[in-house]
Amino acid sequence: MKKIAVLTSGGDSPGMNAAIRAVVRSSVYNGVDVCGVFRGFSGLIEGDFKDLKVRSVANILGRGGTILKSDRCEEFRTVEGRKRAYENLISEGVEGLVVIGGNGTFTGALMFHEEHGFPVVGLPGTIDNDLAGTDNTIGFDTATNTAVEAVDKIRDTADSHNRLFFIEVMGRDSGFIALSTGIATGAIAVMTPETGTTVNDLINVLEKAHERKKSSSIVIVAEGDDNGGAYEIAKRVIEITDKYDVRITVLGHLQRGGSPTCADRVLASRLGVEAVESLLKGDVNCMIGVVNDKLVHTDFETAINNKKNTLKDEVRLAQILSI
Ligand code: F6P
Repeated sequence: MKKIAVLTSGGDSPGMNAAIRAVVRSSVYNGVDVCGVFRGFSGLIEGDFKDLKVRSVANILGRGGTILKSDRCEEFRTVEGRKRAYENLISEGVEGLVVIGGNGTFTGALMFHEEHGFPVVGLPGTIDNDLAGTDNTIGFDTATNTAVEAVDKIRDTADSHNRLFFIEVMGRDSGFIALSTGIATGAIAVMTPETGTTVNDLINVLEKAHERKKSSSIVIVAEGDDNGGAYEIAKRVIEITDKYDVRITVLGHLQRGGSPTCADRVLASRLGVEAVESLLKGDVNCMIGVVNDKLVHTDFETAINNKKNTLKDEVRLAQILSI
């Protein structure tokens, strides 16, 4: 393999730059040319490529976002779009591709491989942590630390005013961020697609805490919770009882930015080097992750469709510790 390409796709996550750097530098180390594709699959379809050298990725290790930019590309969902992407890679002399992203990215990569047999390796880059085949995705540690810092600050003011706060965190289809944040900040309840907590369950928990003279409370709500977001849940609680002085905060995209933590930088660096070595060995069409501190290869279909667990342990822990 003489030349590989790297791209970032879907929602960005802190540590993507560290992964790009590792892909570029390990390619050069192995005597392979490397180019960056801008704006994910859109850049692949439009032929937006740029050769990258060792110095092209200097001083990006600690930067959030992605220097290659990212997007969610509708055209790559079409057969024609993927065909154009393939033709561009061939005319650019690219023989292997590293895609860094989440569920949508790997769904596209899987279809691309099935249609064109092009060698692709995926790295899990999403704050959501909702991929099987890795303990953590790149960006999850940073995003949860950002959320915890924000909730700690809200806790100060909630406590001063004896208030009940609903804090919404990201996670479109999963509650990994919500549960970790809830456990780490001592939330009274965590509402996620996995906990199955209803508004009535929540009212019961709040009532019991009220009887115990608990003065302020934090409820963490995952964006993808079945009861709706923080605003909807708070509205329903207020309709049922006027006992609480309620406030709402949606943390939103601030969770996606910022300098990656040490854990995310190291994870991204390990995965980036393995991606290149894997392409060179011909071990392709899989996502690379770290499970129990070991590098693991998982086929795209399994990574996308099998959430690593149902978060039972985390749900139980959050409930035990919130009494
Ligand atoms: O996939 C990561 C994520 O941050 C989700 O948690 C969130 O639902 C989504 O991206 C938001 O996407 P966008 O930035 O396109 O609105």
